[in-house]
Amino acid sequence: MKSKITVVGAGNVGAQCAYRLAQREAGDIVLIDIIEGVPQGKALDMSQSAAVEGFNSAILGTNNYEDTKDSAVVVVTAGLPRKPGMTREDLISKNAAITKSVVENVVKYSPNSVILMVANPLDILTYYALRVTQFPPQRILGMAPLLDAARMGYFIAQAAKVPINDVYAEVLGSHGDLMVPIPRLSTIKGKPITDILSAEQIKQIVDKTTNGGAEIVGLLKTGSAYYAPGAAAARMAESIVKDKKEVIGTCCYLTGQFGIKDVCLGVPAKLGKNGIEEIVEINLTAEEISALQKAATSVKSLYPLLNL
Ligand code: APR
Repeated sequence: MKSKITVVGAGNVGAQCAYRLAQREAGDIVLIDIIEGVPQGKALDMSQSAAVEGFNSAILGTNNYEDTKDSAVVVVTAGLPRKPGMTREDLISKNAAITKSVVENVVKYSPNSVILMVANPLDILTYYALRVTQFPPQRILGMAPLLDAARMGYFIAQAAKVPINDVYAEVLGSHGDLMVPIPRLSTIKGKPITDILSAEQIKQIVDKTTNGGAEIVGLLKTGSAYYAPGAAAARMAESIVKDKKEVIGTCCYLTGQFGIKDVCLGVPAKLGKNGIEEIVEINLTAEEISALQKAATSVKSLYPLLNL
């Protein structure tokens, strides 16, 4: 039987994610939004492309949470995108209210689902979803570290002039200014980039990665990135429903790993049908741990904004 995957929010990121999932036949897709007609129209358009693309996933567009019943995975992209000059923190109260209304419906209709958060500010909204749903922490995770690593991987491939498939990039921490790109653990064909690229090139890669989302916001002017975010969310949802046990950079609730607890941050995690099957505690230097702790402190400083 095909798994049911719900994507909440039929905007740029949600539609891109739903379409990637359908093309990869990851399951049957439900696309839900509060705007009437938009999820239905986009789902119909995507469904009609099946004849061209040759995929067999069903795509249903709806405004009714009953249609999402018993989803295995719910991807939450509902929220306002960041506008130029707006920080992720500016978005927090608006997107927290949206997150609350969405996840309460997930609890009601898909109490056994895994929730994959995508809306920003990611780390704090993932924590908020955990607190609102009271789901076990294994079943609430956030997307962005994979996106940040994808951006870093792209910049490494460009700088070193190598194929993207030869590159592995490691990015931990929070999705924002305090992300923690780790050049030491980023490789080209298994060799650390610190042995291949100059310190200046690596600094540029790290800066461009940290600024990756903002650069696109500045260019688009009326919205934020969606191709790479949609692809990253789809890849994670697929990994979960297909129980792949891949290790993917994931925003996870930490309970003491890396000396950090009671916060959701990006760390390597094995994903499977239960959500986060394992947080992989890779060896980090004291400096890297301290950068992660700084990110944790920053995310925790936002808790008062959540009115929990
Ligand atoms: N329930 C369902 N859908 C909602 C709700 C809600 N309560 N509130 C808003 N939405 C929908 C909007 O109607 C819109 O269609 O969420 C969608 C958001 O789409 P866009 O405005 O196109 O935003 P997008 O670029 O997709 O980004 C969504 O993902 O990457 C993050 O920072 C980004 O937080 C933002 C989110």
